Amino acid sequence: ASFNLLLLPGDGIGPEVNVEVEKLVRWLDQAGVAKFEIEKDLVGGSAYDAHGVSITEEAMARAQAADAVLFGAVGGPKWDSVPYEVRPEAGLLRLRKDLGLFANLRPAICYPALAEASSLKRELVEGLDIMIVRELTGGVYFGEPKEIVTLENGEKRAVDTQLYTTHEVERIARVAFDLAAKRNNRVASAEKRNVMRTGVLWHEVVSRVHREEFAGAALEHVLADNCAMQLVRNPKQYDVIVTDNLFGDILSDVAAMLTGSLGMLPSASLGAEDPATGKRKALYEPVHGSAPDIAGKGMANPIAMIGSLGMALRYSFGLGDAADKLDLAIANVLGAGLRTRDIAGPGANAVSTSEMGDAIIAE
Ligand code: NAI
Ligand code: MG
Repeated sequence: ASFNLLLLPGDGIGPEVNVEVEKLVRWLDQAGVAKFEIEKDLVGGSAYDAHGVSITEEAMARAQAADAVLFGAVGGPKWDSVPYEVRPEAGLLRLRKDLGLFANLRPAICYPALAEASSLKRELVEGLDIMIVRELTGGVYFGEPKEIVTLENGEKRAVDTQLYTTHEVERIARVAFDLAAKRNNRVASAEKRNVMRTGVLWHEVVSRVHREEFAGAALEHVLADNCAMQLVRNPKQYDVIVTDNLFGDILSDVAAMLTGSLGMLPSASLGAEDPATGKRKALYEPVHGSAPDIAGKGMANPIAMIGSLGMALRYSFGLGDAADKLDLAIANVLGAGLRTRDIAGPGANAVSTSEMGDAIIAE
C-alpha cells in the first residue's frame, strides 16, 4: 500500500520533533512496511511570516487530498500581536473545521518506566491505558447564540449555547464503541443529564446506539463531575470514555496529568467515514504546544509526535501491527532508561531530541 502524508511542522519545537517523525517515516518506507509519499507545508506563525496567512489555500488543498496530516505545533511570542484572523491557532482551527474533524482521540498511557514521574501514587497509574473520545466540532464552543450583550440597566450578559443533535451524538458514540471493540470493549459515557438537556439527549442516544449496534460492549453512564473525581481516584477502572466538547477538554487534561509529561501525549482527530472509500479525514498531533521556552535547544521530547504517527499507522493506514511495534519500541527505550530533559529526574542525565528519535528507530 502507498500513503500520502502531509507534514505541517509549524512553529517552535514543532519542526524539531517533526524531524524525528520524518526520519521514522522514511525508515518505515525503506524497511518495506508501507510506501509513503511525504509532502510538507507551512502552518501557523511560519506560514504568516512567509505568506501573511496562518495556512494557505494550497496547503488546505493538500490537507484535503492527504491520507493523513501530521501536525506539529503552532504559536509563540513572536506572533502575539498579529491580527486575530491570521493568528497561528487560526490555521489549526481552519484545518479542524474544513476537514470536519469531529472526533478527538486522546490516549492516556502510563509507561511502566515513567510511573514514578506521575503526580499520583505509582500503583494508581502503573500500566494505565485509557482513551478519551471528545466530540470536537459541536457543543458550547460553537452553539449559537454566542455573544455578550449590554442590557438596558448597563449590565452585560454573556451567552454561550450548548447544543447537540442526534446525529452528532450518534457519530461520536460509534467512534467510541468501534475503538472499544479493538480494546477492552468497555465504554463510559460522561454527561450531566441531571442538570442539562443536552445531557439527557446524549444519554438517550448513546444508550440506543449501544443497544442497537454494539450490544456486546459494556456501557456505563457517569456524571462528568464524578468522572473527573474517578479519574484521579482510580483511573484504571476506565477503558474508553466518550464525552462532549467541553467536558472532554477538561477530562482529557485531567487524564493527561496522570501520565507524566506533556511531551509524551499524542492525539488524533478524525472526520466522517467516506461511504465510497471507507476512509476518514484525519489529523494527528501532539497535545503539547510550541514550547517557546525550550525551542531551538534540541531538548524537546519527540515521543508525543512519534506517538501521533503511531496513531496514524493504526487509524489511517491500517498498520496496527507496526503501531504496536512502535509502542513497544517507545516502552523499551524508556525501560532502558533513556530520558529527555522533561522526563529525567532533577540532576539526572538527559538525551537530546534526535538521540531519543534515533534510539526509538533503532529499537
Ligand atoms: P506548551 O505545551 O508549548 O508548553 C508547556 C510546557 O511544557 C513548557 O514548559 C514546555 O517547555 C513543556 N513542553 C511542551 N512540550 C514539550 C516537549 N515535547 N518536550 C519537553 N517539554 C515540553 O504550552 P504553552 O507554553 O502554554 O504554549 C506555548 C505556545 O504554544 C503558545 O503560543 C500556545 O498558544 C501554543 N500552543 C499550541 C498548541 C497547538 O499547536 N496545538 C497547543 C497548546 C499551545
Ligand atoms: Mg484543554
